[in-house]
Amino acid sequence: MTRYHPFLVFLHWLLALMIIGGLIMGGNVLAETPNDDPFKLVALRMHMAMGILILALMVIRLVVRLVTTKPPHADIGNARVNKLGTAAHWLFYVVVIAMCASGLAIANMAGLPAIVFGGSGAPLPSDFSAFPPRMAHGALATVLTLLILGHVGAGLWHQFVTKDGLFGRMWFGKRS
Ligand code: HEM
Repeated sequence: MTRYHPFLVFLHWLLALMIIGGLIMGGNVLAETPNDDPFKLVALRMHMAMGILILALMVIRLVVRLVTTKPPHADIGNARVNKLGTAAHWLFYVVVIAMCASGLAIANMAGLPAIVFGGSGAPLPSDFSAFPPRMAHGALATVLTLLILGHVGAGLWHQFVTKDGLFGRMWFGKRS
C-alpha cells in the first residue's frame, strides 16, 4: 500500500484548511472583537459552526483511518524519530478534539447556543475569560499551531531533503 485511502486524503486536506482557518479566525478576529461589538455574534456563529463541523469530520476521519488500509509507518532510520512521528500524528487527533470540546464547554457555560444560534436576543457575557475552558482553548490553540508547524516542517524535510516521496502518500492516485 503506497497511499492513504482517497477519502482520508480528501478529509486530510479539507480539515487542514478548516483548522488553519479556525486558528487564524479565532486568534485574529474572534479574540480581538469585543463582545459588545454587533459583529461578534456573526464571528461566533461562523467560528462555532465551523468548529462543530471540524469535530464531526475529525471523528469520521478517525473511523476511516482505523478501518482502511494504509501505508506502513515512515521509516527514517532512527527508531526514536519514527516513534515521535507516530505520536505526533495521534496527538493531532487528541488536540483537535480537545480544542473542539473546550470550545463547546465555553459555549455551554456562557449560554451561547441560545444567543448565537437560537436568536434569544440575550446579551453576550462581557468576555469569556471568566469561564475556565477559555484558558484551555487558548493554550490548545498554541499547542496546535506548534504541532502544525512541526508537521509542515517534517513534510517539507521529507519532500526536499530525504526525497523519499512521503508527500505522495497523502495524495490521490493508484494505491499500490
Ligand atoms: C479545531 C477547532 C477550533 C479551533 C482551531 C479554534 C480556534 C480558536 C482560537 C485560536 C481562539 C482564540 C484563542 C485565543 O486567542 O486565546 C478561539 C476562541 C474561541 N472559540 Fe474556538 N476553535 C475551535 C473550535 C471551537 C468550537 C467547537 C467552539 C464552540 C462551539 C469554539 C468557541 C470559541 C469561543 C467561544 C472562543 C472565545 C472567543 C473570545 O474570547 O472572544 N471554538 N478558538
